[in-house]
Amino acid sequence: MNTIRLGYVGCGFMAQKVHLPNFSSLPGCKVVALAEVREDLGRRVQKRFEIETCYRHHLDMAENSEIDAFAVSAHFAAQGEIAGDLLRTGRPVFMEKPMAVSVIQAEAILDAAKTPGARLMLGYMKRYDAGNELVKATLDQFRSSGEAGPIVYARAHGFCGDWICGLDTPMETSDEPMPEAETIRPAWLPEAYAGPYISYLQQYAHNVNLLRFFLDAGDRVRVRTVDLDEDGYTGIVSFDMDGVRGVLESGRLDHHRWDEHTQVYFQNGWVKTWAPPLLHKNLPAEVEIYRGGDEHSYTRPIPRDRWSWAYHREAEHFIACVRNGDPFRSSGEDTLTDVRLFEDIYRIFLEQQGVL
Ligand SMILES: NC(=O)c1ccc[n+]([C@@H]2O[C@H](COP(=O)([O-])OP(=O)(O)OC[C@H]3O[C@@H](n4cnc5c(N)ncnc54)[C@H](O)[C@@H]3O)[C@@H](O)[C@H]2O)c1
Repeated sequence: MNTIRLGYVGCGFMAQKVHLPNFSSLPGCKVVALAEVREDLGRRVQKRFEIETCYRHHLDMAENSEIDAFAVSAHFAAQGEIAGDLLRTGRPVFMEKPMAVSVIQAEAILDAAKTPGARLMLGYMKRYDAGNELVKATLDQFRSSGEAGPIVYARAHGFCGDWICGLDTPMETSDEPMPEAETIRPAWLPEAYAGPYISYLQQYAHNVNLLRFFLDAGDRVRVRTVDLDEDGYTGIVSFDMDGVRGVLESGRLDHHRWDEHTQVYFQNGWVKTWAPPLLHKNLPAEVEIYRGGDEHSYTRPIPRDRWSWAYHREAEHFIACVRNGDPFRSSGEDTLTDVRLFEDIYRIFLEQQGVL
């Protein structure tokens, strides 16, 4: 098995708590270089993870032809631009979500992904959760057999809570100032709404992305109704997802765990999944399958990969696809739909508020 040599950009929270430990632990993957604008932090993280090289600028790292693929986690507005620069070198890139804050920005990044040899995977780890894979397989089976009738409704609920749940892996810090990130937003969005828009997008891009995956809806999705409070965050949005009404319930809750579930209703049953707190390592989503009809039953199947972490399986998927050329399950091209939907939600919301 040839080892994939990975270059990683950004040494912040997600890098140190999630992605560097995961990529470094994978057989067949070696993190050979880092890029971090905060030089002292970069050097500390380089030492902790025993990485050969540390650059200050990702463009210097991009000149290293020994690197097979890149991964990026930086400021939400900067990481897409960094990914674009790396894609233009003709190598695969994994990046954290969101890919972009506007369709125009997303399209420019996807143009870069057309460079021969380049392709982009987004860090939508819920698609790699072993429990959610079980949900998807059950949904596919229900749909192809017709045993539960047609899908009648789908719901994503996320009031969230504590996502870190005490994960105490060590983290290097630095007094160096954070780099200034350009505030970018869709051209039509008034500056006063950039903050609420980004908060909503950051959180719920995950849920919309997962619901589209469960329903195999691809780009055949449009926003039907928007009912959000003045905070631009709390409320209900409904979609037409390839002919199915899909609903997103959003809100903030001071919850000691993580309040998120997704449920797909058939005429004679449902499939439901509860998300674990995100940084609770090795805990897949819980699954419930209800079968109606003549004999009713509930099952709570446990995925085969029972002690597993969605982020780790996501890293595995990226490295496996880089090696064997398989398509990414959460590709940049697919993610363009999420970016479009969030712009649409906010445009409708601001029209209702009389702002646009
Ligand atoms: N998938 C998830 O569940 C999830 C959860 C949290 C955050 N995120 C996403 O991860 C991203 C990163 O979040 P974080 O908490 O790690 O941020 P962070 O601020 O802790 O770290 C970002 C790091 O990137 C560095 N950086 C910025 N610009 C750079 C550049 N041009 N070159 C090199 N380094 C640069 C910064 O100095 C910083 O160290 C965010 O965009 C966020 O949306 C995803």
